[in-house]
Amino acid sequence: MILVTNNEGTLGVPATARMLAEGAHALDAIEAGIQVIEADPSVRTVGRGGWPNLLGEMELDACMMDGSTLRSGAVGALQGFLHPVSVAREIMRRLPHEFLVGDGAARFAREIGAEPADNLIEASRRAWQAWFDNEVPEQQKSAWPDTPLAPLCCHAIDPEVGRDTTVFLAHDAAGNICCGTSTSGWGWKYPGRLGDSPIVGAGSYADTRFGAAACTGAGEMTVRCGTARSIVLYMKKGAGVADAVAEAVDDMRALKGGLISRVTIHAIDTKGNHKVVAVNGAGDNKYWLWEGQGEPRLLAAEPVVITTAGTRATTTTRYTR
Ligand code: GLY
Repeated sequence: MILVTNNEGTLGVPATARMLAEGAHALDAIEAGIQVIEADPSVRTVGRGGWPNLLGEMELDACMMDGSTLRSGAVGALQGFLHPVSVAREIMRRLPHEFLVGDGAARFAREIGAEPADNLIEASRRAWQAWFDNEVPEQQKSAWPDTPLAPLCCHAIDPEVGRDTTVFLAHDAAGNICCGTSTSGWGWKYPGRLGDSPIVGAGSYADTRFGAAACTGAGEMTVRCGTARSIVLYMKKGAGVADAVAEAVDDMRALKGGLISRVTIHAIDTKGNHKVVAVNGAGDNKYWLWEGQGEPRLLAAEPVVITTAGTRATTTTRYTR
């Protein structure tokens, strides 16, 4: 058994580890852990308490994948529900589809009786209002919201670059390898923007025969590289988990332009090995590892630097093309 989750997953670790220890299916254990995080407003990048988009609206993304069936369920830009991860799980259970977005995702959530929620907490609303007051030109304010948002998007400062998702990878007692993600995405994103978290193969992927991978940070990078799927495929072709992650990092070196920012990659194989690297991270990215017994341990991701053309974002720099 093994559980790997990032620092944002801290509050969910006890529930997921306990359920895995009791023999639960990895999907159930992951969903329970992520639910804790989604409901807790102190986690500022996931679920209730996350960051809104440019219009001040909460749009949440989540995904689950069962590596034993290769079924997945994902929601993108979901508004008004407390547990995107559970809506994603129900897509897997009830629909012949893998991915719902926007109004369709919200309609499905209502149909299944998912718990409604106002996910915009007062602190996030105030932060958005301060951005609006200070950054939006006066003539755009008077036309709001019928005004071009693209220039604002390209100059918005993400309040938490590189810390924007929770990811869980688990190998359960029965041998199933599964993964789950949940996020409010890039703070001040263009409405409708999806990052990697709901995109199977970019932000996460699981295949019980080989292993699983999941990413946090600027999803634009891992969407372009198909990072999570690549890692599992590299393992299928014979690479160990560390080499598979190194190959995926190498793939990122081909990226030109766009946002070249922080990505943390988490991966496990079928034998209980794992690798977590922080691409262009400052060395402060942490993750939890629980290996089926004892206490979960908080460890540091290994920093990896890639030099490639593009805009490097920090919490104090603006994204410009
Ligand atoms: N990694 C999450 C996102 O880019 O939205």
